[in-house]
Parts: sequence; C-alpha cells; structure tokens
Amino acid sequence: MNAPECSFIIFGISGDLAARKLLPALYNLHRRGELNPQSRIVGFARRDWSDDDLRKEMKAALQKYTANFDEDAWNELAPRLSFVKGAYNDVESFMSLAQHLQELALPNYVFYTATPPGTYEGIARQLGAAKLNLAPGGWSRLVIEKPFGHDLKSAKELNEKVLEIFNESQIYRIDHYLAKETAQNLAALRFANALFEPIWRRDYVDHVMITMAEPMGVEGRGGFYEETGVLRDVFQNHLLQLVALVATEPPARFDAGSVRDEKVKVFRAMNCLKPEQTVIGQYTRNGELKGYREEEGVDPASRQGTFAAAVFKIDNWRWAGVPFFVRSGKRLKQKASEIVLHLKKPPHIPFELKQPLHADRLILRLVPNEGITVRFNAKSPGQNSDMQRVSLDFYYDRQFKRPNPDAYETLILDAMIGDATLFMRADEVEAQWRIVEPLLSSWESSKEEPAFYAAGSWGPHEADDLLARHGLRWHTPTNGDA
Ligand code: BG6
Repeated sequence: MNAPECSFIIFGISGDLAARKLLPALYNLHRRGELNPQSRIVGFARRDWSDDDLRKEMKAALQKYTANFDEDAWNELAPRLSFVKGAYNDVESFMSLAQHLQELALPNYVFYTATPPGTYEGIARQLGAAKLNLAPGGWSRLVIEKPFGHDLKSAKELNEKVLEIFNESQIYRIDHYLAKETAQNLAALRFANALFEPIWRRDYVDHVMITMAEPMGVEGRGGFYEETGVLRDVFQNHLLQLVALVATEPPARFDAGSVRDEKVKVFRAMNCLKPEQTVIGQYTRNGELKGYREEEGVDPASRQGTFAAAVFKIDNWRWAGVPFFVRSGKRLKQKASEIVLHLKKPPHIPFELKQPLHADRLILRLVPNEGITVRFNAKSPGQNSDMQRVSLDFYYDRQFKRPNPDAYETLILDAMIGDATLFMRADEVEAQWRIVEPLLSSWESSKEEPAFYAAGSWGPHEADDLLARHGLRWHTPTNGDA
C-alpha cells in the first residue's frame, strides 16, 4: 500500500541507526514506489550540517549499506532531504523545526527517535511545546526506538510522560523482530491454514525452543552493552515477542488492537524469570576473538551477561506443562534466529525399529534463510521398516524470487500508513518488563560470576545442563539445511 504524504523527521540523523537502517529503508521504499512522492525527509541533529552536508553523508551511507545503489533513484530522493540543527531538549531548536515543517506544508508528521534512550522523553516534551504533537488537518505520530525504559519503573514513567503529550494511537514503539517476514508469517501459518493450528497446543507440542545467536561481539558498543546486557537488549523485547507470537490465541481480527490484546494475555500468563530457571553467561577470549571483559568501554571485572538461557512457562489451557526454552548470546558460533516446535512422539509405535524414533519438529527460521522446515519420519525404501528423518522445506527467497523487505522498511511504511500491529503498546512493554525484572534485580544485586563460554562456541555448558535437567539438548541451528 502506498503511504500518504508526510514529513518524516529523524532525530539523530547523524547516528548509526539512521545511516545503517533508516535511510536505506526510506531509499528502498522510494525505489519500490512505496514512498509517497510528496513526502519529505527531515534530519535533525546537533551537527553543524547544511542540507547539502546531509545529502553528502546520506549518499555515502547508502553506498555503504544498500545493495545495488542506483544514482538515478538517489538523485530523485536527494532534493527531498533537508536538515535542521538542534538539541533534543531545547525549545528554540524545536521552534525552528516547527517553522521548517510549516514551510514544507505537508499535513502529516512522523517523528522518529533514532537517538539515545535518555532523549525520548525530552523529545516528546519539546514536540508538545512546539505543538507538533498536533497536526491540524492531518496526523502526527511518534516512533520510539528500543530500549523502551531500563526497567519496569522507568518504562512506566516514560509511558506516562509520553502519554501526557501523545495519545496511545499516535505512539509506535519499535521491536524490529516483529517485522521480520517469518515472525509475521507465524500468524499466517497458524491462522490461514487448517494444517498447523490443531496441533499447536499442549496435547501435541512437547516443548518449544527459541534461539537468537549472533557471531558478533559488542562491536564498539561496549559502553552501551555494559548498561544493557543480553536481558535488556534482546530478552525483554525480541525474544519475549517471539514467545508471544508462538503462544498467542487466534485474534478475532488481525488488527493492532486485537493482536496486541492477545499478546498481553500471553505475557500475563507467563512466569517471571527466576535465577534457578536461567543461566547468564559471558564470552571469554578464544584465540583472536577477544573476551567481553577486554572489549573497549567494558569494565575488566564486568559481570554483564552477553548470553542468557531461560525456561518460560505459560500458565493457560493451551500451554500448561509445555516449557519454552529460550537462549541468546553474542559471540556464538553462527548467526541464527529460529523457533523450533518439538512435537510429542506418537502414543503407540506399531513398527519394530532398530533406532528410537525421533519426534517431529517444525522449524521456523528468521535469520538466515528465512523459511520453514517440517522434519518428520519416513520409511526408508526397501524390505524394512527403518525410519529416516526427512524434511519439507519452504524458503522465502526460492519461493518468491525476491529479497524480503528489511524489517525497517516494513515498520516505516506501517508508521506512515498508521498500522500499529507490529509495534508495542504501553501495557505490552510493561508486561514484558514484569517478566524479566525479578531476574534483573536478583542478578544485579548478587556477586555471582556469569557462566563463562569461549567466544565462537554455542555458549556455556550450564545452558546445556539447564536442558539436560529436562532430558533435552538444544536444537543446533543449521542455516536451513536441517
Ligand atoms: C538489536 C540489538 O535490537 O537486535 C542488537 O540491540 C542485535 O544487539 C540486533 O545485534 C539483532 O538484530 P538482527 O535483525 O540482526 O537479528
């Protein structure tokens, strides 16, 4: 769907997120004809840039971060970029912004906070003071990046402050995992097919495993990561959202209100994390790969978790007794985000088998090779009843023959269109903090060392022990060749 015309204002245009994700997303939307031709992009930052400086920087960013940079497409987009110099908590700067937006004379605004989390409240307040939260004759929306708050208390406070200025329907809280195609396709898989949903419950699902593994370390973000750690960086948001997408009840309609109502119900049915259900790990040097404590900006005695594994329970009729095992870490063996539903074994096996039968698995890959694999048992040919594990595979790129849009393209377009389904609501963010908060506070007040693991491995053995207590082993992601 084409987006209505708007001014798209990026606070923090000189930063990494704008260069790596936001500008490339806007540029790709423009190339696909999905950005309204009247829309304008306004960069806001403290730098002493002119419009031309902004264009020069953004062109360099696009050349670096987009595939097949196209000069003609850039030449169409470049004149639609402009720059406002300003500070994030300064009345005058926001008055200049308001003046600039008035000159552009577009009816609608999307404000995007690609800035450090400490600035979000000030930006909202200044937008209110400059009356930019109102758009007479149009609409005004505020997109807020993650992390939303540092804990439950600060998330509540931030919600309260921002809601004094914007209505909930104007606020778009980002979790880019929701916009990954496989994450979106989970709903389609479940609710547009009769094949999967009947088994999607405790009667057939034995347990669920979710892995989000990254080979990168903290990549120059040591200072940020010291404050954040794996629990705040990805557990409180991406991983809990994936659990909720797997566990949610079918919404009556697939709209923002109904989908988010159902996710909040899942979060309310989930256990708060306790230390005994969790492993917190940290990577150590392995050959050339530095240990976390050696990274720039990191305390050499830091206890910060770069890995966590946890067991979630969902106490409702559908999922009672089905554990959800979730793990994520930096400097793991490979890049892989996937969800695996391990089904129960059949109640009776009428064959005489040499090997024990494997249970069926449904593997949903988010990164890389987005797609779905169903693993099941088939009889191997010939005079025997031996079973072999075989796979039915669906790969997005093979099927649709074009790359999936980046999550940020989807999110920016949705914010322009006014569809908040893939964004988080105030109560949802707070419900997510409620789940991780007890673990965060017990970990931060303890002196316990993290479980160390060698950079480039699959994490600490304690994470394997956590599963061994349930008689299980982690499913090893195989990049889609499962
Ligand atoms: C971000 C985290 O939200 O997600 C990063 O802050 C992480 O630490 C990133 O690397 C992973 O996203 P993706 O899309 O590359 O899997």
